[in-house]
Amino acid sequence: MDAIQLPKSCNVDQIIDDLDQQGFSIIDDIYTQDYVNALVKECSAHLNSFREAAIQNGVIQTIRNDQILWIDPKLPIAQQHIATLKRISERLNQYFYLGLKEVEAHFACYNSGDFYALHRDNPQQKNNRVISTVYYLHERWQADWGGELRLQDKNQQWHILLPQPNRMVLFESDLLHEVLKAKQQRLSITAWLRRDSVLF
Ligand code: OGA
Ligand code: MN
Repeated sequence: MDAIQLPKSCNVDQIIDDLDQQGFSIIDDIYTQDYVNALVKECSAHLNSFREAAIQNGVIQTIRNDQILWIDPKLPIAQQHIATLKRISERLNQYFYLGLKEVEAHFACYNSGDFYALHRDNPQQKNNRVISTVYYLHERWQADWGGELRLQDKNQQWHILLPQPNRMVLFESDLLHEVLKAKQQRLSITAWLRRDSVLF
């Protein structure tokens, strides 16, 4: 038996069903409060190392202006989230034969006024990102604080998803989506379930 268990709140059958039907899935209250507290602490302790996010050949502030920190072994609490995502990948592989092998992840911080314009995470199938995931870790979020994830599902329906604390959203990486302008600091981990190893 593998030592890393999925959180009890993480119903992978439901994720599989949602991905199949609509190309995205939402899991609320995925982690225990103890884990959330530890993760918020780790993220906050590193906020001054966050850097402007690059898009392919550089920083283009009209497209996105959040700041990010790639997750490496020096961030052990965030690594546990990656371990959860690896378990989910195994289950998705068994069901959809996606061939997921790697998880690539960064923290993201959107300060007030920050956004990420409409995009796909896997434009023209140019990279090996298959499933995108976003986990929200700010302590609270009010409906009038903006920062929603606006996403077109695989049936061409648009959804506006609030970045609720302790919520994880998974979606097919070729779906169109954007982050609407945030009015408060918005903290998250974006992670991609990939077909190959990450090439830096
Ligand atoms: C991304 C992204 C969505 C979100 O990082 O590519 O689209 O809700 N994030 O943070
Ligand atoms: Mn994206």
